[in-house]
Amino acid sequence: MNIERLHDIANRMVAPGKGILAADESTGSITKRFESIKLESTETNRRDYREMLFRAADAMRSCVSGVILFDETLRQKAADGTPLVDVIKAAGAVPGIKLDKGPKPLPFCPGETVTEGLDGLADRVAEYAKLGAEFAKWRAVIDVSDTIPSFNAIHANAHALARYAAICQAGGIVPMVEPEVLMDGAHDIDRCAEATEWALKETFQQLYHARVALEGIILKPNMVIAGKKCPRQASRAEVAEKTLKVLKRCVPAAVPGIAFLSGGQSGEDATAHLHLMNAAGPLPWKLTFSYGRALQADALKAWGGKMENVAAGQRAFAHRARMNALAASGRWSQDAEKAA
Ligand code: 13P
Repeated sequence: MNIERLHDIANRMVAPGKGILAADESTGSITKRFESIKLESTETNRRDYREMLFRAADAMRSCVSGVILFDETLRQKAADGTPLVDVIKAAGAVPGIKLDKGPKPLPFCPGETVTEGLDGLADRVAEYAKLGAEFAKWRAVIDVSDTIPSFNAIHANAHALARYAAICQAGGIVPMVEPEVLMDGAHDIDRCAEATEWALKETFQQLYHARVALEGIILKPNMVIAGKKCPRQASRAEVAEKTLKVLKRCVPAAVPGIAFLSGGQSGEDATAHLHLMNAAGPLPWKLTFSYGRALQADALKAWGGKMENVAAGQRAFAHRARMNALAASGRWSQDAEKAA
């Protein structure tokens, strides 16, 4: 393992005042997003949408350190024939690839899943590295209710994350380790804190057993937040405080950076939470964003699938990217939000 190289890539992924664009929706997920703007999910439409984001040149150059791609996009060419990977690299961002094959039902654990995709993974890593990917992502999904998560779900997912991370590092790419505790339920913020702490503790234990070098990973966790159906929604300050408390208990300082998922938060909430945490520094690791929905929702709406709206879509994307870049250095404010 060339740990210096992995450490260098990881540091570029969490460069100061920048964060990651998660554009790795599977074909099924992007089809659902396109349904919201009544757009057919063809290969060309998916390409046009992603190309619009990657060609928002100023925002990409100043706010985006890396982009996570789905297999199809990593192999796609822009309308003018330039590989999309080259468009991303030209903007100074690191290309990454989603490696997992999604969560599948975990037998005898009703309502729980384990993420699959380990078979043949070393070969896939080698191929993606050749295609230009310098990091990868694997998402484990932990659901919360009164009776779950179970030990089996926490353990199976952490074990798979660790095996994936080791395979990535052996193949020369940085693993982005994503244990996501969902915010879909009716649980309160303290129950989320409990589940998140458990999932992170087990994940780092398994990473240790798998001999993964923490200096060459990026952690992509959820924030500690009440479930969407919980009658008591926590304040932004409480989310920031409880998230930092759990991260400080669980994430060794050797990890170069933590890049949050947005998980269904609104664009502005995701920005405000990140800002409050960075403003409460200094912290042992870089803290930034790796948002999908929170970074793209406004852009998708402004674009609406129409060529004539590309500039409007790029403006909406650039605005959210700038707000999150400010949040990544604790310099976001409501005034900045309005001034745009
Ligand atoms: P969201 O920010 O929409 O949660 O997506 C990030 C991601 O990559 C989930 O795996």
